[in-house]
Amino acid sequence: MNQSYALFIVFAVTFAAGFAQASGSDRAAAQPGIQKSAFGTMPDGRAVALYTLTNRPGITIEITNYGGRIVSIIVPDRHGEMADVVLGFDNLEGYLGNNPYFGALIGRYANRIGDARFTLDGKVYHLPANNGQNCLHGGPHGFDKQLWTARELPGASPALELTYLSKDGEEGFPGDLSVKVVYTLSDNNELKIAYSATTDKDTVINLTNHSYFNLAGQGSGNIIQQEVMINAERFTPVGPTLIPTGQIESVAGTPLDFRKMTPIGAHIDENYPQLKYAKGYDFNYVLDRKGPGMVLAGRAVDPKSGRELEVFTTEPGVQFYTGNFLDGTIHGKGGKVYAYRSAFTLETQHYPDSPNRTAFPSTELKPGQTYHQTTIFKFSVQ
Ligand code: GLA
Repeated sequence: MNQSYALFIVFAVTFAAGFAQASGSDRAAAQPGIQKSAFGTMPDGRAVALYTLTNRPGITIEITNYGGRIVSIIVPDRHGEMADVVLGFDNLEGYLGNNPYFGALIGRYANRIGDARFTLDGKVYHLPANNGQNCLHGGPHGFDKQLWTARELPGASPALELTYLSKDGEEGFPGDLSVKVVYTLSDNNELKIAYSATTDKDTVINLTNHSYFNLAGQGSGNIIQQEVMINAERFTPVGPTLIPTGQIESVAGTPLDFRKMTPIGAHIDENYPQLKYAKGYDFNYVLDRKGPGMVLAGRAVDPKSGRELEVFTTEPGVQFYTGNFLDGTIHGKGGKVYAYRSAFTLETQHYPDSPNRTAFPSTELKPGQTYHQTTIFKFSVQ
């Protein structure tokens, strides 16, 4: 190869790479990495950013440091057609307005704490009641409404670190809690969310992500034809305000049985008290596991598009919720209407109300210990 020919090749390759990067839609030539852009301004003037993570196969995931929220997940169907499979908003204003935790990082305590109080080391802690008499998702100013400090991490896969210091007494919880969450997008189309936290006083903690999935694409109607498998033989039954009764029961013979792939709508309207309390599915499943470590929590498939989601976690439970409180009043990305049951969630977690239930796996965190939870959302096609 002579010198000018070699130079030409170098030039051509450089030009092609630049072109691929400039045209974001050219997925065959995706450049892995993170792009940062402005997302809006908090009411107090702080700037909020949007981070776009791209992997080599061309999947993109947008995350904002406002509430650690996953804003979009764009994945192909079996024909390579891309769609955004999570509910959300095009800009910060949407997230600052009323919305049921779209894509949010939930803390200090995912799901409900009964009567908005718990006792720890003999002391009663009072929390804000933001769901009837109960405390839901860490209270009205939970982690989903905080601005996190973001940092792009070096490495082969795009990785975004978010950190937040929750001060002693914030939303009623004890201890300065230092929280770190790392989102990593691998080339196998896995989004890994690794949470860790330390405290300076005895406290309780239960972190999760509250993404609303619709594998046919956000705003494309209800999810009752989409199929779900949940790797759980048991669940924690609830009372009328969705607080666990404390029992752990088998799903066998009930409409809550998702041990085999089942259309979400197959039994959702059955006359079964648990379903009536929740207006559909909104239950904590006790994952089948033989010991600690990552297990498959569940799998969901949209038979029409072939898009598949698998969820793996280190947690003991998963909350399966079918968007029963969506009612079409919220207009999301691209003006799409978010109708009743137009998304589902698989929120990996410790069981609701564990601080008041000594028989449930403990959610206590003490000084010197480090809390860890890892969850993977893996996307593929069938
Ligand atoms: C969780 C709860 C539901 C509901 C949603 C948000 O999934 O279990 O009851 O509060 O969050 O609307």
